[in-house]
Amino acid sequence: MRYRHCRSFPALLDVPSKCGGAEGSSNIFLLLAIKSSPVNYERREVIRKTWGQERTFEGAPIRRVFLVGVAPSAQDAKKLNWLLRLEQREHGDVLQWDFKDTFFNLTLKQVLFHTWLEKHCPGVHFIFNGDDDVFVNTDNVIHFAMATQGIEERHLMVGQLFINNSPVRIQHSKYFVPTQLLASKQYPPYCGGGGMLMSGFTAHVISRESRDIELFPIDDVYLGMCLEKAGLPPASHVGIRTMGMGVPANTDPFDPCYYRELLLVHRFMPYETAVMWQAIHEPQLLCSKRVSIF
Ligand SMILES: *[C@@H]1O[C@H](CO)[C@@H](O)[C@H](O)[C@H]1NC(C)=O
Repeated sequence: MRYRHCRSFPALLDVPSKCGGAEGSSNIFLLLAIKSSPVNYERREVIRKTWGQERTFEGAPIRRVFLVGVAPSAQDAKKLNWLLRLEQREHGDVLQWDFKDTFFNLTLKQVLFHTWLEKHCPGVHFIFNGDDDVFVNTDNVIHFAMATQGIEERHLMVGQLFINNSPVRIQHSKYFVPTQLLASKQYPPYCGGGGMLMSGFTAHVISRESRDIELFPIDDVYLGMCLEKAGLPPASHVGIRTMGMGVPANTDPFDPCYYRELLLVHRFMPYETAVMWQAIHEPQLLCSKRVSIF
């Protein structure tokens, strides 16, 4: 709380040319900005091979970056910084800043990402922003974004919507927020941090508004605060399930037929991501109408 004003930290790993430079960046349709922690190596590896592939899908170029800080313990940090440098050499997809990568620094990570975006990728049409333990049907994300073409010039922020959520005042909770930090009894509407899709326009608005809003440690709520200040509401997308699948009882929650229709599901193990990505692209996959989540 005492260091909330600190929001400028040097980059340790950067990919300034990720979007083809600031001018070239309007050619990029979708940027996947995935919040990871240094230790989550397996998650990054499987994402690179599956839903996070850098490719052109139906004419839409996709790029990927992982957002990381530094492991909190000095001993781990040395090894993991080494690992991240190796990953960077092989994949060129790591944005690392010199701050402690902890739960309450996620907002800092988000703000640093927006600063990076303004500088190196200002023209990108859409940004997917989410965690590294989710399964994303990137093809569906692209289709949805394409169906809203022209929206990149306008506001778009969709995810799992939380409205009328209140700050937790129970001291031992992970989400405890003392009244000294936030007096308000209610959070503004926000999309769950597990995964959300925003337009380039909305990303610019967030960068702009965040300059005048003190960092609040819960990152998804913070984005809600930025949107509220701009008068732009977030919206719900039924295909974004950051709280799990919620399939009917006696049905298999791992049935690929569900995932063919969804945009995002939390949470997946790396091996499950590998299996599911293959399964939803199986030409032989037959789904009856009954297997539907909508
Ligand atoms: C956030 O990162 C800064 C810089 O590394 C560190 O001093 C601070 O303790 C971290 N905050 C939390 C809540 O971990």
